[in-house]
Amino acid sequence: MTIADRDAGAAARAAGELDVRAVTMDVTDAASVTAGVAEATAALGPIEVLVNNAGVVAGGGPLVSLPLEVFDTVVAVNLRGTFTVTQAVAGQMIESGTRGRIVNISSIGARQPTAASATTRPPRPPWTPSRAPPRWSSPATASGSTASRRGPSTRR
Ligand SMILES: NC(=O)c1ccc[n+]([C@@H]2O[C@H](COP(=O)([O-])OP(=O)(O)OC[C@H]3O[C@@H](n4cnc5c(N)ncnc54)[C@H](O)[C@@H]3O)[C@@H](O)[C@H]2O)c1
Repeated sequence: MTIADRDAGAAARAAGELDVRAVTMDVTDAASVTAGVAEATAALGPIEVLVNNAGVVAGGGPLVSLPLEVFDTVVAVNLRGTFTVTQAVAGQMIESGTRGRIVNISSIGARQPTAASATTRPPRPPWTPSRAPPRWSSPATASGSTASRRGPSTRR
């Protein structure tokens, strides 16, 4: 297993605890992703399982005053970064014939807005971006219900 993070120290600490490898990689930088994937592959062979865990929570307060730089940062890491790493690893999985698995870590906040997290007003679209598309009419969104009341997931 390899832990990739833009924070080299954090990656090394986590990797040390788990006795695995660490690589420094910034998911917002395509060249860094290419290099990180290549380094991990050179050490351990083709990647079989990718977990897109890097993510940031930024901003807060009313949407109307959210600085564009904050919006851009969230999209660059949570959305574009997930895409960039997935693209690099999926291409490699196909090429090597690996029966790969890709896991994207998201948040309940992607489908259930939280007051004062994305907006201080009652939740109304649109709000601060995240990875998964919001489901405006889902039971979770409408009632603020818990995960146990959500519909069946199609994810594996
Ligand atoms: N902690 C929670 O309550 C919570 C809730 C919902 C979702 N999540 C999601 O779970 C995941 C992990 O959360 P966490 O609480 O462990 O967060 P964390 O901040 O402890 O870990 C996130 C890691 O992502 C790394 N990272 C950030 N930007 C990066 C980049 N550009 N390139 C590479 N690495 C980058 C950070 O250095 C950090 O080590 C995130 O995707 C987060 O959105 C967390």
